[in-house]
Amino acid sequence: MKLSRHMAPLLLATLVAVSAPVCAQTVPAPAPDTTASASNAGATPLAGDAVYKAFHGEEGIQRIMDDFIVRITTDPRIKDRFANANLARLKLLLVQQVSYLIGGPQTYTGRDMKTTHEGMGLQNGDFNALAEDLQLSMDKEGVPFRAQNKLLAKLAPMEHQIVPR
Ligand code: HEM
Repeated sequence: MKLSRHMAPLLLATLVAVSAPVCAQTVPAPAPDTTASASNAGATPLAGDAVYKAFHGEEGIQRIMDDFIVRITTDPRIKDRFANANLARLKLLLVQQVSYLIGGPQTYTGRDMKTTHEGMGLQNGDFNALAEDLQLSMDKEGVPFRAQNKLLAKLAPMEHQIVPR
């Protein structure tokens, strides 16, 4: 199934609705994080490396993030948000974060999602626009839809930390 642009907010909303209770009920408690940086990634990583492989590993994630940075900095809905951003640092940390979350060997070394986005005044529409851009970048890399959804299910609940209520 191909995801059209207008379906992305719907998909994210659905994932937010279903992922929290499903995780709480069926996923065993993760082992405690031994480093602060790993816990800053905003979610626990997927078990195994099947999804990491479906993203074509480190090189695939690098390509996805190269494309994603171009999209978010040219997307008229959100590009102004990144006017003062350090894009090299942002890309490096996104590669780490995504790799970590989908079962890769990398560790996330950035700040936590609440601290990072505090004071930006982000809204639900910003979050959905960014998620749509990410989906387009994953499509371009040829990441299978099911593997894309595994990452989106990790990211969707982060909206509560990124978009103030
Ligand atoms: C699930 C959604 C998101 C994730 C996983 C995410 C992840 C990240 C990460 C890892 C960083 C770098 C942290 C650090 O500097 O230590 C960051 C920074 C940033 N993010 Fe997000 N973010 C998300 C949503 C958004 C949205 C919706 C916007 C705006 C449309 C946004 C705008 C920014 C900006 C402007 C920075 C700061 C860059 C800088 O100071 O150089 N983020 N984000």
